[in-house]
Amino acid sequence: MRLRHFIDTNDFTKQELVDIIDLSITIKECIKTGFHPPLMKGKTLGMIFQQSSTRTRVSFETAMEQLGGHAQYLGPGMIQLGGHETIDDTGRVLSQLIDIVMARVIDHKTVVELANASSIPVINAMSDYNHPTQEIGDMITIVENLPKDKCLEDCKVVFVGDGTQVCASLGFITTKLGMDFVHFGPEGFQLKEKHKEIMRANCEESGGSWIVTDDLDEAMDDADFLYTDVWYGLYESELSEEERHRIFMPKYQIDRKMMQKANLGAKFMHCLPATRGEEVTDEVIDSNISIAFEQAGNRLTAMRGLLVYFTRYQNEGTLLQKEVAKEMLSNFMERRLSICCCCE
Ligand code: CP
Repeated sequence: MRLRHFIDTNDFTKQELVDIIDLSITIKECIKTGFHPPLMKGKTLGMIFQQSSTRTRVSFETAMEQLGGHAQYLGPGMIQLGGHETIDDTGRVLSQLIDIVMARVIDHKTVVELANASSIPVINAMSDYNHPTQEIGDMITIVENLPKDKCLEDCKVVFVGDGTQVCASLGFITTKLGMDFVHFGPEGFQLKEKHKEIMRANCEESGGSWIVTDDLDEAMDDADFLYTDVWYGLYESELSEEERHRIFMPKYQIDRKMMQKANLGAKFMHCLPATRGEEVTDEVIDSNISIAFEQAGNRLTAMRGLLVYFTRYQNEGTLLQKEVAKEMLSNFMERRLSICCCCE
């Protein structure tokens, strides 16, 4: 089996990303019937966190538990990484002890170095550059909330506000999948040339589109999903409340008026945590057009799919993988049904 890591969605083809999304949804459907397929049985996940986390930590640990595996939390200061031991040696040691590792790091270089040194799959659980596991959950949420008569490629997703790593990742995956992506943000806080180059290349291949703009009407025209993230920036260089308000308020706050400029039926998304009253009003995030909490739930859907894909189904023949994954899951489901029949 060829070793692959999940560092950046741009390392994957559209078909491979669709396979991961599809596998995640298949496992979710299986679990909804009440049966937890033991696809991670006997496997251990190491969870390295250099920063705090609610969704990522809880969803990875729950995913391992539900699929019959085990997770070890390796929080800030709990292991030698980058302190008494090099990142390289940490990767080599973990490869001897566990089956798969996820890392939330401060500096993107750390997760790349860890992957290069590891002989087990490494999943990037957010760096200062990107947040690829978030985007798998987001795409699952969009697939489950497609506008009437539209498929994924027909959808326009608008990210509003600061060009965070979540914004960049959303731009990467939507353009890779052939969707229309907009970053609506103020000058100085927009996606950079390095992001634009990647989105340009993705669109040339996929037929998708992208724009970066500070024009509200251009951004909202035909928008199906409005997505936002916090305004305070990265951990190391957080903006003060006063600065945030000066830069983003009121133009980039998603409120009812902004939602009304998008398509009828447009949905609100947020990677969370949210700073209510800044990037989004309570009225919007708590309304029935908000799918932000469903989106948080799909972090778990995504983690299950990613864990299974990277430990069991990663290989070169992706269509074959998909079929094998589906067959295995349907076999589990059939077995469960037959057990139920015996019981009756
Ligand atoms: N969206 C997200 O990654 O949340 P956490 O920081 O809580 O994991």
